[in-house]
Amino acid sequence: MKFFIDTANLEQIKEAQALGILDGVTTNPSLMAKEGITGKANIIQHYLDICNIVDGPVSAEVIATDYDGMIREGEELAKLHKNIVVKIPMIKEGIKAISYFTSKGIKTNCTLVFSVGQALLAAKAGATYVSPFLGRLDDVSTDGLRLIEDIRLIYDNYMYETQILAASIRHTMHIIKCAEIGSDVMTGPLSSINGLFKHPLTDSGLEQFLADYNKGN
Ligand code: G3P
Repeated sequence: MKFFIDTANLEQIKEAQALGILDGVTTNPSLMAKEGITGKANIIQHYLDICNIVDGPVSAEVIATDYDGMIREGEELAKLHKNIVVKIPMIKEGIKAISYFTSKGIKTNCTLVFSVGQALLAAKAGATYVSPFLGRLDDVSTDGLRLIEDIRLIYDNYMYETQILAASIRHTMHIIKCAEIGSDVMTGPLSSINGLFKHPLTDSGLEQFLADYNKGN
């Protein structure tokens, strides 16, 4: 399973990149705003800064919600860097835009997906990635992981090439369960990735090894 980090924080992206296990980055307008990145020029520069840190897919989201606007913005974003993936919302105009970008060989990430029907449409349009938001479904008492399972089944039935990018990951168990289900990618905050390291037996075992080594030295 590929690991993407879901942030616009450059320090966290660098920290994850330094681990050697990072495959890509996802961002969204809220994550940009959280870092105080506002205005088109600053946002574009920020995408370039991210592309200079990580050599992997970097999702950059369009703001327009009409077809022409999404095409204009998406083409502009795609020209920024070879690793940019145009992130497009799951709406009718968005599906039309994804179909257009597919025909032009431009990579897309269909975002704000909350149902199998929406994921089916994204695959039919040829999206490179589909982003089901599992944490936000959990937030409203709906099983987000079940959605990932259902999409996996349908995509496998028809051998759709669209990659399932499990988004809105909140913690380490989401990552582990997504790997069990067979999600192609997960995107999560740095805290969820760092959580995978933690085990008290690793800590106490290492402490003991070092203490025993030091007895003889
Ligand atoms: O990038 C989209 C998604 O991962 C958002 O996550 O935590 O805001 O639901 P969250």
